[in-house]
Amino acid sequence: MRNEGLGTRDQLNSTQWRRRVFKPVVWLLCLAPLAYLIYSLSLDLGANPIETVTNFTGIWTLRFIMVTLAVTPLRWLTGINQLVNYRRLVGLFAFFYAALHFIVYIVTTFFIEGFSNFDAPGLVADLTTRPYIIAGFTAFVLMVPLALTSTTGWIRRLGGKNWNLLHRLIYITAMAAVLHYYWKVSVKLVPVNPRNYGILVAILLGWRLWRSVARRRASEA
Ligand code: HEM
Repeated sequence: MRNEGLGTRDQLNSTQWRRRVFKPVVWLLCLAPLAYLIYSLSLDLGANPIETVTNFTGIWTLRFIMVTLAVTPLRWLTGINQLVNYRRLVGLFAFFYAALHFIVYIVTTFFIEGFSNFDAPGLVADLTTRPYIIAGFTAFVLMVPLALTSTTGWIRRLGGKNWNLLHRLIYITAMAAVLHYYWKVSVKLVPVNPRNYGILVAILLGWRLWRSVARRRASEA
């Protein structure tokens, strides 16, 4: 429950206190990769700085998607229901890093000789013909309605049930994101990292499926 009007320490109950402490901590943790990225811009980013920045924002998008998906199973495991209070924030940061990743890709690939010359046909061709780009773009596009409807107003407008249903799009986003990563690095012999993320997504989604089937069976019984 939010209670913005309370001012003194004594009036805050322990849940509100925990939230006031944890929220800034979660914000700081979510902003840490961005801070590191900005700091690294002043360092030597290697032979291909654009690739380094694109890969950095891409991998952090994937990590934030994983954390968002892990919140509910963690709640089941630990019984700490307050974890759900941070899920929306982490999900919005996943979208933020995805948008950054997409912007870096567009700006560095399709703006030829400065900002006055934008290669729109090249962008459309890339988005519709290269399999790993199609997968990444699908993952990103599906995050847009989730970010737009992440406010409390939208939860009220849609109703909890519809909102939850819509936000299951994150499952498709996660699968498309892993596929994007897998296809991107599958030219290497053993794409271990994408495989590990794939296993993680399978566990996080499979667990949900197993629980909902078990619950349905129990309610039928
Ligand atoms: C949820 C959305 C997305 C996720 C999770 C994601 C994730 C990733 C990951 C993990 C990598 C590789 C990192 C590495 O090799 O270490 C990557 C690379 C890349 N992604 Fe994405 N991506 C997403 C969306 C997109 C979109 C929308 C585009 C463009 C349409 C895109 C374009 C690229 C490109 C071009 C690279 C390769 C960079 C290079 O090697 O130069 N990604 N992405």
